[in-house]
Parts: sequence; structure tokens; C-alpha cells
Amino acid sequence: MKVTMTVNGQTRTGEAEGRTLLSTFLRETLGLTGTHVGCDTSQCGACVVHVNGKDVKSCTMFAAECDGADVATIEGQCAPDGTLNKIQQAFQDYHGLQCGFCTPGMVMSAAALLRDNPTPSEAEIREYLEGNICRCTGYHNIVRAIMAASGQEVPAVAAE
Ligand code: FES
Ligand code: FES
Repeated sequence: MKVTMTVNGQTRTGEAEGRTLLSTFLRETLGLTGTHVGCDTSQCGACVVHVNGKDVKSCTMFAAECDGADVATIEGQCAPDGTLNKIQQAFQDYHGLQCGFCTPGMVMSAAALLRDNPTPSEAEIREYLEGNICRCTGYHNIVRAIMAASGQEVPAVAAE
């Protein structure tokens, strides 16, 4: 079947089977490989995108369910000239990424958190990111980056 969705402000159409996951559609049909797939079992959060303004794990939705939806991926987070948004910049400034595999999902989850809660506490950030697994950084710097992106004072060493 043909599936059409708005992705990062552009209308995109592609063929999908009924079983095609949104993550697969984005990566393999639309070529948007910034959305990562780390588990395919809804645990790691590397695949988080926004669908109609809500953060979702794109490996848990079918592409066909998103026909007509408004989808935002990591590719649409920076400015057209490549300037990073404030969350991306904070991840860079506070070393919130090492291998970078989890980063797209972390940034998309952080964007959803800050939209709903512009000044989250450290505990709220940690709770919100429970569905996002990072195997590199131990989360300290990710939490610090999100604190910075929200304009708050950044803890010198975030508590575990
Ligand atoms: S790939 Fe979707 S949660 Fe891991
Ligand atoms: S930066 Fe490597 S998995 Fe998070």
C-alpha cells in the first residue's frame, strides 16, 4: 500500500506492507537513517521520533498507522544550514554522546520532555529517559546536557 506522511515538514510517500514498522519505513524507504534501531523490542529508545507531536518508539508503530500523520525525526531538528538546535548543541557541549548510537532517540525524547516540562528537575529528566538506553555515557552527561538545554544550572556531577 502507499503510505503518505509529512516528515520534517515535507510530504513523503512510499510503499509499505501492513507489517512494515515506522522505523523501517523511515530508514529503508525514505532513507532517513538518523532514526536508529537498537533492539526492535521497544526497550532501547534509539528509534524515538515524534508522531503528531507525541514521542513514540518508531519500532512499535506500523508505517501504515502513520498514513497522514505529522512525523518529526532527528534529521529535522537542526536548521537547514546544519546549525544544531539547543538540545543537540548542549549534547555536544556537555559530552552527552560518545558512540552516538542512542543520541537521536535521546534528543527526540529530550525535545518532548522540554516541550511539556521546560524546566525539569534532574530526577524528572532521569525518569523521563527510563525508556532510552545509553551504553556509553552512564547518563551523567546526558542529564547535564538536558539541564543546560533547559537553561538551568548544570550540576557539576549529577547523582546516579
Ligand atoms: S529500536 Fe525501538 S526501542 Fe529499541
Ligand atoms: S552514546 Fe553510545 S549508546 Fe549512548
